[in-house]
Amino acid sequence: MAASRGEFSSRFGFVMAAAGSAVGLGNIWGFPTQAASNGGAAFLLVYLVLAFTLAYPALMAELIIGRHAHANATRALRSLSSRPLVSRFGAFTGIFGLVVASLILSFYAIVAGWMIAFGLGSLAQLLGIESVASWSTGFSLPRNLLFMLLFMALTIGIISEGVHRGIERWSERLMPALLITLLLLMAYVLTLDGAMQGLRVYLLPDFHRALSPDLIIAALGAAFFSLSLGVGTMLIYGSYLPDRENLPLVGGMVTLVDIFIAVCAGFLILPAMYVAMHNGVEIFSPSGSLLSEDTLIFTVLPELFATMGVPGALVSIVFFFLMSIAALTSSISMLEAPVAYAIEEHGIERRKAAWFIGGIIALVSAGILLDFGTLFGLVVSLTTRYSQPLLGIILCIYAGWVMQRNALLQELKQGNPRAEHGLFWKIWPWYVRVVCPAIILAIFTRSILG
Ligand code: TRP
Repeated sequence: MAASRGEFSSRFGFVMAAAGSAVGLGNIWGFPTQAASNGGAAFLLVYLVLAFTLAYPALMAELIIGRHAHANATRALRSLSSRPLVSRFGAFTGIFGLVVASLILSFYAIVAGWMIAFGLGSLAQLLGIESVASWSTGFSLPRNLLFMLLFMALTIGIISEGVHRGIERWSERLMPALLITLLLLMAYVLTLDGAMQGLRVYLLPDFHRALSPDLIIAALGAAFFSLSLGVGTMLIYGSYLPDRENLPLVGGMVTLVDIFIAVCAGFLILPAMYVAMHNGVEIFSPSGSLLSEDTLIFTVLPELFATMGVPGALVSIVFFFLMSIAALTSSISMLEAPVAYAIEEHGIERRKAAWFIGGIIALVSAGILLDFGTLFGLVVSLTTRYSQPLLGIILCIYAGWVMQRNALLQELKQGNPRAEHGLFWKIWPWYVRVVCPAIILAIFTRSILG
């Protein structure tokens, strides 16, 4: 069975793929700007605490369920219980998860398309092809459609190659490239005038802001989004892990890489903003807060690059290349969730499944683009703000309450015969049963009410 459904061939391959899923626009774009506007190092601290105490245990729930079943989320959750109702609800959760994963991909592909467009725009700028440069960096329906489709085609192309030849091989190439590019950019930006001020904003904690409930909600959302939790992407990656693999260890590695890249991105983006200010670019909104999100990436940074002449154009190409890679290693994990389901539950051949499902998602993206102002924000909040935490709670409950304690231990022991005596086994089982669902629920309720 394992051979026919594909498997990661090495620990490095798995960690690169799962970290590739985790590291994406959320880390390089979302995290630094949120940190900037929410108390700098204090936000970082809250984020770290939540990532280790809530996101890591939830990630482990997905990896264990997936590896135990060696199957897609729907089958994995269905097979955990022999009680019909629990089993059917599990299958339903799996399907709901893959619908959410597909919807996340439908907005993610739009933003990722912009990254490619801006990279190409900088290249055109450098070559002096002004018309192409301004077309690809200006907001228009044809531009948005074209680059979204291009990005979807890349995603589908990799997924149709399969787990080993597609996901693993490309993650092993792209992730080291991403890391090196990020470190080089960071080192370069830190040498520019104004960078130190940005560093100060990033590293001086303002605890006043960091302990507010809103901020904790934001940090939890960021941590869940960043580790790709809830929708079954990590579950399906876990299902491709060989039984000999030590799950808590590889899960820990993935969490660490994810956090490390987010923290590094902070060392790039915040200093870059203050370099921009030093060069005369406006970086504060009229209300006095730092510009963030799309304005930051698509206005402030390009304006900064423009003040830097030819080196600026080069840095710009490299920067948007970095963003595109980060997005691609994440988008493939989103598409794998529904594709694995179609292959295993409906016997559709992988290549066909990838193009068919990818095609539908591209159509949904196109629909969003037609009424961007209304639909984009709606889909983002429906999926990431509401569905992801809810699904996260259900997955923790299935790992903690539905899956037999014995089965859990057996699963852990395969990769580590001494698992029973380890710290993980002492803490995690009750933690994922009680603490995770309760805290996620509390934060979730507050975010709905507030
Ligand atoms: N974690 C990725 C990021 O930080 C995005 C991502 C990939 C994702 N797969 C996911 C988010 C599944 C939610 C669910 O950009």
